Amino acid sequence: MNNYVFLLVCFWSKVVDSVEGYEVTPWEVRGKVDYDRLVVEFGVEKISPELLEELKRHTGELHWLLRRGFFFAHRDLGQVLKDYSEGRGFFLYTGRAPSKSPMHIGHMIPFLMTRWIQEKFNVNAYIMIPDEEKFLAKKVNSLEDVEPYVIQDILNIIAIGFDEDKTFIFRDTEYIGHMYRAAVKVARHINFSTAKAIFGFHGETSIGLIFYPALQIVPTLFEKRRPLIPCAIDQDPYFRLQRDVAPKLGRYKTAELLSKFVWGLLGPDTKMSASEPETAILLNEDPDKAAKKIMNAFTGGRATKEEQRKLGGIPEICPIFHWYSLLFEEDDKKLQERYNACKSGELLCGECKKELAKRVKIFLKKHQEKVERAKEKVEKFLYDGKLANQMWNWEYRD
Ligand code: TYM
Repeated sequence: MNNYVFLLVCFWSKVVDSVEGYEVTPWEVRGKVDYDRLVVEFGVEKISPELLEELKRHTGELHWLLRRGFFFAHRDLGQVLKDYSEGRGFFLYTGRAPSKSPMHIGHMIPFLMTRWIQEKFNVNAYIMIPDEEKFLAKKVNSLEDVEPYVIQDILNIIAIGFDEDKTFIFRDTEYIGHMYRAAVKVARHINFSTAKAIFGFHGETSIGLIFYPALQIVPTLFEKRRPLIPCAIDQDPYFRLQRDVAPKLGRYKTAELLSKFVWGLLGPDTKMSASEPETAILLNEDPDKAAKKIMNAFTGGRATKEEQRKLGGIPEICPIFHWYSLLFEEDDKKLQERYNACKSGELLCGECKKELAKRVKIFLKKHQEKVERAKEKVEKFLYDGKLANQMWNWEYRD
């Protein structure tokens, strides 16, 4: 596609989005997201059953988030499997930008997938902690506001169970000296008009945020192999840009494994957002408080018990069922039974919520214990583990 047509398409999709009432950018997700349209607009591909089968040939099983279609789209996942089969290998990259609130359970999703792929393929994983991004995007008022959450987020990520010798976690303000040279090379290839069309930058955007995409691209250059990035689809614009730039630097275009968004507690058209605590279960939350939030959540139930018994519930629009399917019921058969019992009116919302509240409490308690244990390992992931140690000597070479 030539540049002019590309810009026209980007502009047009922005206009259509605002008319249709949803917006997906790396810094803002609003409204009811139409994933089918997003696939077309972003130019990504849906994950086909054949591709899933091919993945399964390597992994022996499929993660439930893949089986259930929550990771639903990709770029070049087939190429990753080909690279792996033919001995070139690949590496993983993902990230979390600390904010002025803790991570929520939705934020775990890309890390769970990254960890699963690391385990199945025994590959390196790089985890960026851009401690400046939310500040530059004006989501927080000062860099200092973010500080307490940097270490908390790192601990939450370590608690997921990454390999301490194959994982490097780094925060931008500390690791920048190693990344700056590569960032400059990347930035030189990105015109403002392209960045503006992709990200919607405008006159009030800080120039820091305009440069930032170059930095988020840098870890895709850490190894001379294909990177695979598990994340939600909001991060795709960065990597669409990477795929333009990488060949100019003689590097691999990145592959992506893209998920939908975890719904908030207020309903199917709401995204879980840590800055709106009433929509989210936070990872450091008191388990009893989280259980109460579940008991007060929106459901796909009917107005009265009698109606529910007669008509059945609507699990398709129910955040409670959604959460069972994402994090709290790994067994497909049991999930299907829950779906059927809801649909038939046999299972009422109170009972269903109570069970989820119990599971969320257990999950949070266990996770918080793992966070405590992660404190002993933090140095490994940041500095002393095999990969971390290597990366403190890394510099970009053409
Ligand atoms: P951040 O901190 O906004 O989000 C971290 C990761 O969580 C995903 N995510 C969600 N996934 C499911 N449901 C939700 N409701 C939800 N909200 C957020 C995001 O897609 C992301 O994968 N710029 C990034 C930080 C970053 C990064 C990266 C992310 C730096 N390098 C490489 C992915 C890959 C950010 O602000 O993420």
